[in-house]
Amino acid sequence: MKKIVLSGMRPTGKLHIGHLSVIDNWINLQEEFDTNFFVADYHALTTQFDDTSMLQENIRNMMIDWLAIGLDPEKSTLFIQSQIKEHAELYLLFSMITPLSWLERCPTYKGQIDQFREQQGKDITTHGFLGYPLLQGADILLYLANFVPVGEDQLPHLEITREVARRFNHIYKTDLFPEPKGLLAKVPLLLGTDGRKMSKSYNNYINIMSETDEISSKVRSMITDPKRIRKDDPGNPDVCTVYSYQKIYNHEDVVEIEQSCKAGTIGCMDCKKKLISSLDRLLGPIREKRHSIEDNKKYIDDVIEFGREKAKVKAQINIEKIKEAMNLI
Ligand code: TRP
Ligand code: SF4
Repeated sequence: MKKIVLSGMRPTGKLHIGHLSVIDNWINLQEEFDTNFFVADYHALTTQFDDTSMLQENIRNMMIDWLAIGLDPEKSTLFIQSQIKEHAELYLLFSMITPLSWLERCPTYKGQIDQFREQQGKDITTHGFLGYPLLQGADILLYLANFVPVGEDQLPHLEITREVARRFNHIYKTDLFPEPKGLLAKVPLLLGTDGRKMSKSYNNYINIMSETDEISSKVRSMITDPKRIRKDDPGNPDVCTVYSYQKIYNHEDVVEIEQSCKAGTIGCMDCKKKLISSLDRLLGPIREKRHSIEDNKKYIDDVIEFGREKAKVKAQINIEKIKEAMNLI
């Protein structure tokens, strides 16, 4: 039997190039594992409960982006969290055995509450937000997942998931739940095109769907070494945002770029052109694939329905076992 991999992503709008390496990592797992990837729409509600006007559009766009990048609905189970009611049911069952203190001391809890209050004047001290890691634990354990590819920021949630699994197994004298492990891929940390943290509110990221001229204008607006005035001034790539992108998207030429920048033999405009063309080479095929499927309503509906059926079978089998262990059935 293949080991089980599961991960999810909140539908926060169209994906940007920072997400690309995350999805590529998921794609690489498709052959070796039983892979399950879902759009975490319940999780989106933990912070965006007050404005759901874009939710359906965002969910669908996320699914379309995944397909365009290359996730395969035949190889993976691709589904939408809220379509599988067992996520909500398991979350409730887990809430009975989870000490409040485990959730209260989760570092993302206090951190995010402060961040939302400071940045948006918004109070997210809801029951649902406190329960965020537990809902995530339910997502993972519902499929008896062994591995969870996530970013480092998610590790506290995985720790809680393992604690819940252990506690459940102990209380109900079972070995039903594995203790899922995080799979940390080397996801490069990308800065925004303005050198600040990448953020929607700064509009400083490159969308996966960007057309060539949009890639071009974003790259042209990037800050280079500010001390470089003339084209043949020696530059310092380490302080240059363009260079931080070259390291990722022009990996093969990066030594040459570094040397010619330091020697003042390449101008920033030529350097940017190199980046523009390699980004365009990378995103072009994804863009084309997206264009070819995005208006095919039936195809997207079918993919979503197919994933729902596959996920439902797994979830129903497992929730039965879980409820049996608890003497609920
Ligand atoms: N919290 C995750 C994030 O923000 C999304 C998520 C929800 C998730 N449920 C999950 C990830 C289960 C992995 C497994 O990235
Ligand atoms: Fe940055 Fe390239 Fe200009 Fe050097 S030549 S400062 S790496 S843009």
